[in-house]
Amino acid sequence: MIRSVLLFAGLACLAMAFYDIDEPIYNRGDSIFLKSAELKADPSCPSQLYSCATCSATRICVPLPNGTWHHVQDVPCADPTPYCQKSTGSCSAEPDIDCGQKDGFICTRDGYFPDVKDCSVYHVCTNFVANSFQCINKTYDAIAQDCVKSTESCSPFDCEAKSGRKVPHSRYDTFFAYCRSDVAALVDRCDQAYVLNGTSQLCQPPCKANGPVADNTDCHKYFTCSMVYYTKDIVIPQLASHACPPGMGFDPVHLICTNVAADVPNCKF
Ligand SMILES: *[C@@H]1O[C@H](CO)[C@@H](O)[C@H](O)[C@H]1NC(C)=O
Ligand SMILES: *[C@@H]1O[C@H](CO)[C@@H](O)[C@H](O)[C@H]1NC(C)=O
Ligand SMILES: *[C@@H]1O[C@H](CO)[C@@H](O)[C@H](O)[C@H]1NC(C)=O
Repeated sequence: MIRSVLLFAGLACLAMAFYDIDEPIYNRGDSIFLKSAELKADPSCPSQLYSCATCSATRICVPLPNGTWHHVQDVPCADPTPYCQKSTGSCSAEPDIDCGQKDGFICTRDGYFPDVKDCSVYHVCTNFVANSFQCINKTYDAIAQDCVKSTESCSPFDCEAKSGRKVPHSRYDTFFAYCRSDVAALVDRCDQAYVLNGTSQLCQPPCKANGPVADNTDCHKYFTCSMVYYTKDIVIPQLASHACPPGMGFDPVHLICTNVAADVPNCKF
């Protein structure tokens, strides 16, 4: 008993010798304290104590008596609060609106999708979970999958009197919405770079000019697209499906039926 008390006292003295009580300990563990001499004048400091350095790290800045703001430290956010919120400068379970956000967007498949009503918003579905993003002062371009400058006003889906039907996106007809009570309820996409035909309610190859079009679902088939003029101003594109002769496939580059296997990739004649 006596021996163990002595041992303990000895260890305590040893620890004191290595431990300068007057000098604070910096950067121990997860602490963020720095000596004031280490604060750096930083023009990127906003005039607020707590802000975001990135979407996943906070930034702490302090005001000095002469009115300048100095950078203390950026603190990475980690689970279960992996996102920095700009309004508080704190880590949060929810991403900031500028940084993507889990919301009620319904994922029908993985990929990038325009929003049901806001042309500056897009959604990225991964494993059927959406993260949503807002283009700041820009419009989402679904082809470039990027935010672009645009002055045009945009109304993505016209669901008026189309409840229970699919309508193509006003700019990107590869995407379509399913309407419920005049409102776009969910957004989906045609496969094969096809576009939604609002009349047939089917995804079909784009038909914008007279000529043959590959059938991306069957290499032995193709479509012909024809512009049918009803009047000078009313033109209705018509697609008709055709099969190549037996022993042939449709060459998507030269737009002809051929028996040259190399011209029809991945197709058994
Ligand atoms: C403000 O004070 C800090 C710390 O003393 C100094 O580094 C900085 O240069 C000062 N800035 C101005 C604009 O006086
Ligand atoms: C967006 O536009 C508003 C109003 O024109 C402007 O105040 C703001 O700074 C802009 N934001 C960005 C990130 O460009
Ligand atoms: C859309 O579908 C309708 C009805 O099936 C058809 O008459 C029309 O040609 C199609 N339009 C295009 C562009 O394929």
